[in-house]
Parts: sequence; structure tokens; C-alpha cells
Amino acid sequence: MSLYLIPGGAGFIGSNIAEALLKEGHRVRILDNFSTGKRSNVPADAELFELDFTDLASIRPAFEGVDGVFLTGALPRIPYSIDHPVESAQANVFGTLNVLVAARDAKVKRVVYSASSSAYGGQETLPLHPDMPANPLNPYALHKYIGEKNAEHFAKFYGLETVSLRYFNVYGPRMADEGAYVTVISHFVRQKKAGASLTVHGDGEQTRDFTHVADVVRANMLAMASPRVGKGEVVNVGAGQNFSINHIAAIVGGPVEYHPGRVGEARHTRADITRTKELLEWEPTVEFEEGLREYLRSQGIEPGG
Ligand SMILES: NC(=O)c1ccc[n+]([C@@H]2O[C@H](COP(=O)([O-])OP(=O)(O)OC[C@H]3O[C@@H](n4cnc5c(N)ncnc54)[C@H](O)[C@@H]3O)[C@@H](O)[C@H]2O)c1
Repeated sequence: MSLYLIPGGAGFIGSNIAEALLKEGHRVRILDNFSTGKRSNVPADAELFELDFTDLASIRPAFEGVDGVFLTGALPRIPYSIDHPVESAQANVFGTLNVLVAARDAKVKRVVYSASSSAYGGQETLPLHPDMPANPLNPYALHKYIGEKNAEHFAKFYGLETVSLRYFNVYGPRMADEGAYVTVISHFVRQKKAGASLTVHGDGEQTRDFTHVADVVRANMLAMASPRVGKGEVVNVGAGQNFSINHIAAIVGGPVEYHPGRVGEARHTRADITRTKELLEWEPTVEFEEGLREYLRSQGIEPGG
């Protein structure tokens, strides 16, 4: 049995990791300020530190006796980061740095960092491979990219084991469904429930690689345990398939309204998972259309398409 700390554990991905760790018999500590996370996401058996990781001194006690850190905490929305670049950097750059410093000083063995496929930004070719030079197109992408470089530097300079998992659009149970900055699937679900048209930005032919949260959780567990990582490696966590926003709208069903496209977002994403297979022996298990239909049913929506 180990003790794991999850900064951001009241959020979508962090709470799914917490639940899986508890099921395996580990102890779980959650550090969160509930800026986007929910109290109802914190499992009853987890210890809670209600703290803001932009304040280094206050978070240090939460790292005492911790074996490993799953750093999922962030302000994870592209439009938010364009509207609030300073707040985004405070959480996503300096918050990440504080967690790395506190982990290093508390002699934590390994930090698994939730990185983002947005670091790829504009690329000429698909699939996206971690050896491609990063090309972040917006503040969020840049801040997350700085986070993974910092994670790599902490392995190099201080011997803190780190690994960065670049997630491609994650969906599934407990996905954020409130506020102005939800992701496309939640956005459609909300509109569908309200009997409104689905709003698409641009022509809807932009594509994304969608990954089920259960697969993301498994990648985290493998990344914490694998003897083949720990030196700041960057690996993709994506399904390796991409679907257009129009296709998703058709599965959700109902009329679609087109709005001007968004600037600062990649046209297509699709993960090359060769390195993830090699280093983590990880492969996705949930096929997207099946996973999406199941998610829609869980939201009381009978899928179309
Ligand atoms: N969801 C996706 O599709 C996706 C894709 C790529 C990368 N990621 C990354 O995965 C991680 C988790 O994303 P998520 O979708 O679960 O987001 P989320 O918003 O549900 O969870 C983030 C958590 O961090 C907490 N947090 C934010 N600022 C904090 C602070 N200053 N102090 C303490 N806690 C703070 C929030 O309250 C929340 O509980 C993020 O690092 C995100 O960048 C997510």
C-alpha cells in the first residue's frame, strides 16, 4: 500500500484516478482549491487538503510521507486562458512548479504530470509524435508545455522522477459540465438537454482524438509504476483515431448551428502511441463511438447517428 497525492483530485481526471487507487487499496490524499473541481468528486475515503497550489509554503505539509504524485491540477481551458492569461499561468506554470518543488523537497519518488496534446498546436502532418517540435498556439497550450519542460528539468537537475502524459481530449464520467468553458461533448450534452441547437465553431470538419477517462487512469497507473520511465519522458495518451465535430454532433443528434471558428486551436489531432506502447505497455481499450454512446445514455440522451 502506498500513499499518493493528487493535486487537482477534485476534478474530472484526478477524481477518477483517486477512485482507482482506492480500489487498489492505496491511500489517497487530494489537494484542491475547488476552482473547477467539485466537493462531490472527492471520495469519502480520501484525505482532503483544501489548498491553493499557487502558494508553495502552504502546500508543503500535504507532501509529507507521499510516495507518488499525480499532478492533474490545472485551469484547463483554452478560451479561459485567452481571456485570463495571468491566472492561467499562475495555476498552470507556477502551480505546477510549486508542486514539483514541494515533491522534490519532500523526497517523493515520482510525479506523473498531466500534460496536454495542445502542446503540438499547428503541425504539418499527422499522427502527432512526441519527437515533433512543440508549437503551442494559445496560452493554455504554452503553459502546459512549460509544465512538462519543468518536469523534465526536475528529473535532470534534482533526480525527482517525472513523466509527462500528453492527453488527447478526455471524456467520460464526471467530465466538467458547468460553467462557460466546458469541452465540446459537455457543451453538446448541455444544449441537447436544454432542447437547444448544437453550436459548432467553424465548419465542424476539424477533428479531435478522443480518449476515455478509464484509459487515461490506466495510463497514469502504468506511468507511476513503470521502470522504463522517470526521466521526464513525454508520451501520448490518445486513442489514435480522430473524429470530426460534425460527426459527434450527429451522434448527439438534433439541429446544428454554425458559429465563427475559434482562433488559436489546431485543425486536427491524432496521437501516435508507439512510444506509449513501448514505455508503458499501454493501449486504449474504449472505442470512441461506443464510449460516447454509453456516456450519452448515462446523461439520459438516446444517441442518434
Ligand atoms: N480533460 C481533458 O480533455 C484534458 C486534455 C489534456 C490535458 N488535460 C489535463 O489534465 C488535467 C486534469 O484535467 P481535468 O479535465 O480533470 O480538469 P478539471 O478542471 O476537472 O480538474 C482540475 C482540478 O484542478 C484544481 N485546481 C485548479 N487550480 C488549482 C489551484 N490553484 N490549487 C489547487 N487546485 C487547483 C481544480 O479545482 C480541479 O479540481 C489538467 O492538468 C489538464 O490540463 C485534460
